[in-house]
Amino acid sequence: MLSEVLLVSAPGKVILHGEHAVVHGKVALAVALNLRTFLRLQPHSNGKVDLSLPNIGIKWAWDVARLQLLDTSFLEQGDATTPTPELVEKLKEVAGLPDDCAVTESLAVLAFLYLYLSICGKQRWTKEDLELINKWAFQGERVIHGNPSGVDNAVSTWGGALRYQQGKISSLKRPPALQILLTNTKVPRNTRTLVAGVRNRLLKFPEIVAPLLTSIDAISLECERVLGEMGEAPAPEQYLVLEELIDMNQHHLNALGVGHTSLDQLCQVTRARGLHSKLTGAGGGGCGITLLKPGLEQPEVEATKQALTSCGFDCWETSIGAPGVSIHSATSLDSRVQQALDGL
Ligand code: PMV
Repeated sequence: MLSEVLLVSAPGKVILHGEHAVVHGKVALAVALNLRTFLRLQPHSNGKVDLSLPNIGIKWAWDVARLQLLDTSFLEQGDATTPTPELVEKLKEVAGLPDDCAVTESLAVLAFLYLYLSICGKQRWTKEDLELINKWAFQGERVIHGNPSGVDNAVSTWGGALRYQQGKISSLKRPPALQILLTNTKVPRNTRTLVAGVRNRLLKFPEIVAPLLTSIDAISLECERVLGEMGEAPAPEQYLVLEELIDMNQHHLNALGVGHTSLDQLCQVTRARGLHSKLTGAGGGGCGITLLKPGLEQPEVEATKQALTSCGFDCWETSIGAPGVSIHSATSLDSRVQQALDGL
């Protein structure tokens, strides 16, 4: 089964424009971030194999002999299937997780086991493997929030910058290397509830909400056009357009009812420094993005990060367009990542 260390990473991602609207068939633009999550599976001479997910503080060990005895024929359909309750129960039995394991942690281990047992032992993933990973990740999204559009799993799998509409994916050819701040307001929210809230508002006020979704669609298309132009011939005016699009979309998202005072605060703090922000993803708290224009001095970036941290938020500076899910060799890893994997 497993003879060597398996190291996998996946990028963080943000939706630049089109969250919520994408659930209703509109276009979304999503990008992979140069902030990655790592996973290590390490066999030991004592017959155990360790799973380490340092970003969420998970370390778990299995008996290789026990895993090998398992009847995993339920995974051998060659394609991703909707996880039925029976399938999830079977995987739980395989995983041997304690009953008191937190829901998010046990879901992470189960999702990993699904993937590992389906696509185990490869050193490189083919396009077909990635398609399968994307399908499984979509099923994982369904467990977590019911009726996902599919944009999140697509961008985490394929990386780069994607245009997504109703399952149709196209990569932006030459996305500019935008710098952004990703801010986590740490306000918990439930994607399923927020998506349902937008649907209810659409049903209640179709004449008001449908045009908002159409307008968000147009914002995504305009952003795609500008990013294309920036890739070809960058000019400072393009940043002004991106900033206006961010502001308009943020107002629309507020009108859809997915804003939050913490996100208003994020927008105000960055606006006071001439920077433009919007929520990303489901809203209602969660994360926001801030565009960093070129020429911004590093002390100014640091002061903005500090101001956001003082609000109680977590804040990272990063760039867009990172590679999708990847396998690594142990020697190619940054020493900080190695330390995090070892340090649990
Ligand atoms: O906050 P996240 O990462 O779960 O993103 C949700 C994005 C939505 O458009 C609101 C839902 C979806 O499935 O696309």
